[in-house]
Amino acid sequence: MTHPRVPIPKRGVDYRGKIVLAPMVRSGECPSRLLALKYGADLVWGPETIDKALIGCTRRLNPITNTVDFTRYSNNGVKHGGATEGQRESVIYRLHPEIEGEKLIYQIGTSDPETAVQAASMIAPDVAGIDVNAGCPKPFSTTGGMGAALLKTPDKLCAILEALVKEVGNKHEIGISVKIRILDTLEDTEKLVRRLVATGITGLTVHCRTTPMRPRERAIRDQLRMIVNVCHEAGIACLMNGDVTSRDEALQLMQEYGTDGAMIATAAEKNSSCFRSEKDGGLAPWQEIAREYMRFAMEVANRWGNTKFLLAQIIPGRAPAHQAMAKSRGYFEVAQALELGDELIALAKSVDERLEIGVVKKETKAERKAKNKVAQQTAQEKREQKAAAKTMPRTARSRSPAAKKRKVDIGEPNMPLDVSREMGPGTVTGQASTLAV
Ligand SMILES: Cc1cc2nc3c(=O)[nH]c(=O)nc-3n(C[C@H](O)[C@H](O)[C@H](O)COP(=O)(O)O)c2cc1C
Repeated sequence: MTHPRVPIPKRGVDYRGKIVLAPMVRSGECPSRLLALKYGADLVWGPETIDKALIGCTRRLNPITNTVDFTRYSNNGVKHGGATEGQRESVIYRLHPEIEGEKLIYQIGTSDPETAVQAASMIAPDVAGIDVNAGCPKPFSTTGGMGAALLKTPDKLCAILEALVKEVGNKHEIGISVKIRILDTLEDTEKLVRRLVATGITGLTVHCRTTPMRPRERAIRDQLRMIVNVCHEAGIACLMNGDVTSRDEALQLMQEYGTDGAMIATAAEKNSSCFRSEKDGGLAPWQEIAREYMRFAMEVANRWGNTKFLLAQIIPGRAPAHQAMAKSRGYFEVAQALELGDELIALAKSVDERLEIGVVKKETKAERKAKNKVAQQTAQEKREQKAAAKTMPRTARSRSPAAKKRKVDIGEPNMPLDVSREMGPGTVTGQASTLAV
């Protein structure tokens, strides 16, 4: 049977026939996505990132990692606005345009059409689609009216999707999609899905669990056929999610339930080669996955805490390397424990040095605070000098140290802000961290 199809925007992706990496806070950062693509994921969802976290970020091209970083300064105890010397810059979202740019879907956490549009507009040129998270049951999401809370406020969810379609999808020629959970009854889910497919979205993913259901409870698939039918009537692609563990299983389930694609989360967190079919080699041993993950993590200088978290999922608890990894403080120690070979061990050492982690001494919180305090005092002294200079007679003012410095500054060439931001070496500090929100 043929169905109508909403047109796929020029820069967007068709979700049909795709087996994709699910959005996962912490577990879906840049290196995990690159690994999933290497083993055959057709598309990758980034971790839910809240609109308010992205708004206010600066977009930078990082020439060391070849990534696009959305960064902002952390406060580090500094109460007054503006960056001070020694303040850390955090990476809120990092993506690799060359490898994943055309396959990456940015998942937004939002409860407001205006802020959703503002945040999505910032990242739309760098991604192939924007997905709204309407399924996360965690309190940090639902208390703000985001995630699964949106399932109870369909007017708001539809307003968000319509605003994104109109203001972001159409403008940037990418698709807008939504990820939901099933509701308690078939009738309630149908009512909701019928409204969602009328908003102009191009895809819908259904996590086949209700909001209160925990991950260990088996996914419920008896509403799936109805959801697929409603999506197909409207010309929208439907992806299934929940307890899909491999490409071969996904293909079989897609056939059984008529879905256009499938999304994999926890199985991919442990071993990304679940995206590779049996005929192409099937599941790779954990040692290979750990090595390839380390390679990507080092190439994009992933925050060490995040890398360690992922390695803990990949390396089995019983393996001696797991204990070594648990005790490690940086890439070098793990590269040695995993016996990654001279080339990767040398790379690990240089990444540790750049990130100031591991065997290299790291600046402590107290040291950083002290440095910030000095920077603040210096700024205060400068302000006082400036105020004093204003009350000085004119001739005395032109001889003051501040006036002399001003002269020198004016004499220096003026680099355009966007160039200095994007191209300047080391614009993103070595300690830049990937922070999933
Ligand atoms: C570590 C982790 C983080 C997750 N983060 C998100 C998220 O950011 N957005 C979202 O929509 N779902 C998130 N989920 C839910 C998954 O995308 C997926 O819906 C769920 O795990 C069911 O798929 P599975 O049975 O293949 O694990 C997360 C799941 C896990 C395990």
